[in-house]
Amino acid sequence: MPLPVSLYSDNGDNFVVIGHRGASAYYPENTMGAFKAAYDMGAEMIEMDILLSKDGIPVVIHDETLNRTTNGKGKVVDYSYEELAKLDAGSWFGEKHSHERIPTLEEVLIFARGKIALNIEIKTEAVTDELKNGIEEKAYNLVKKYDMRDHVLFSSFDYRSVAYLKELDVNIAVGLLYDKQQSEGMGPKQLVDAYEADAFNCSYRQYSKKWAEEATGANIPVFVYTVNSERKMRKMIKRGVNGIFSDKPDVLKQIVDNMWKSKGG
Ligand code: G3P
Ligand code: MG
Repeated sequence: MPLPVSLYSDNGDNFVVIGHRGASAYYPENTMGAFKAAYDMGAEMIEMDILLSKDGIPVVIHDETLNRTTNGKGKVVDYSYEELAKLDAGSWFGEKHSHERIPTLEEVLIFARGKIALNIEIKTEAVTDELKNGIEEKAYNLVKKYDMRDHVLFSSFDYRSVAYLKELDVNIAVGLLYDKQQSEGMGPKQLVDAYEADAFNCSYRQYSKKWAEEATGANIPVFVYTVNSERKMRKMIKRGVNGIFSDKPDVLKQIVDNMWKSKGG
């Protein structure tokens, strides 16, 4: 099955090495340091999480609150971008990373264009009941502005967000991140059909043999998160996934390259 996004460095193996929150095993997650490292390690795509600041700027951070990954406190949405930009987003991981800041989506797009594909995960906390002026439209407009449309896979655990993105542009690649509650018993095929998604993303723990048969039979690209052990990486590759989100993209790249070479690729 063809990949839903175009890679800058496609070696023809139909598999995407994805740096989860960047190379987040080695650098503070969702920072420019983590993204640059993932690129340098040979990742083919960078995954990041986005929320909105109080003044509506898409910013790159995983949690709804600042507490875990910055020296700030409280909800991201309660601070303007100017306030967020002053926070230290690296010291929690290690003193030498104290220069790291919360990036804007725009900064990451400027870094990535011409270089590396992106997975922009829209966090549920930022999704509203309306498409108008929401995070999807803001993020999509930035992607278009930097001419990255063909190199971006959007995704969200919030199925409203998946639907909004397709309303904005039926041709933009969107992965549906499996959420049991919203799925009403549906599996990969039914869900991807129902939401017109281009890929099915789920945890490697959820990706059973049954789902693998269903997705492969229906030609659905599948991306699984978050796999850091070599044994599990091999297991998922054998199960036929099209990409793995890993905090250690260097380890994943090595495994994929070796498996590809031994197949004669
Ligand atoms: O998009 C894959 C993965 O990032 C989803 O989980 O919590 O790490 O954003 P989380
Ligand atoms: Mg994520």
